[in-house]
Amino acid sequence: DKSAGDAEKVTYKVGTEPTFPPFDTTDEEQNIVGLDMDLIKAIGKDQGFEVTFENLSFDGLVPALKAGNIDIIAAGMNKDDKDRQAQVDFSDAYYESKLMVAVKEDNNTIKSVDDLTKDMKVAAQTGTTGANKTQELQKQGKIKEAVILNGLDTAMLQLINGDVSAVINDKPVTEAYMKKQPDKIKMVGEPLNAENYGFAVKKGNTELVEKINAGLKNIKEDGTFDKLVDEWFNK
Ligand code: ARG
Repeated sequence: DKSAGDAEKVTYKVGTEPTFPPFDTTDEEQNIVGLDMDLIKAIGKDQGFEVTFENLSFDGLVPALKAGNIDIIAAGMNKDDKDRQAQVDFSDAYYESKLMVAVKEDNNTIKSVDDLTKDMKVAAQTGTTGANKTQELQKQGKIKEAVILNGLDTAMLQLINGDVSAVINDKPVTEAYMKKQPDKIKMVGEPLNAENYGFAVKKGNTELVEKINAGLKNIKEDGTFDKLVDEWFNK
């Protein structure tokens, strides 16, 4: 039996790009799952809204939000990025992250970003902070080519196959790939930045951003947040 309250519940469309474990990924049946999905579901439960998930390319998320095709971005998105702040509104931060250089496990020459050379290709995901960094290296003439790919799964595959010398990506996500395929990839050097993930809404949608912030605060206070982080990082 559905109560009147349930029937009135608003449903928000949440956009993500799911090659970003453990934040945004897919299960055996290709359902979109992950820490971001469980967090926004828990926030919705707390705040009385429901969610459905949409699979988009990472560089398509902000345009989709601006066009009104989705209501929320939940995609491990760095909220400190000035460019993005001009286009969308962000919730409070929910996760601290950083970019790292990843190389093949058996690579003994690249020990940090400074060891990348003019003959090397470096991969990153389209529209990400990692792609910005990689393209910057190309512009500075420090690498031969920034290989900008749609999915991080492809980037990691290209690294393992030796098609690229390095991948620049978020540390916790590269670690998730390292867990899936042990002894193939390692991270080297110091972090290239510091970032804070936030959920994004359309510019001016104060009502929704306030709901997300209130829900986030509540699930942190009642232990749900830590429980979900634990679950997804110990899979
Ligand atoms: N944290 C990086 C950024 O904000 C990468 C996020 C990629 N997320 C994804 N779901 N593929 O640009």
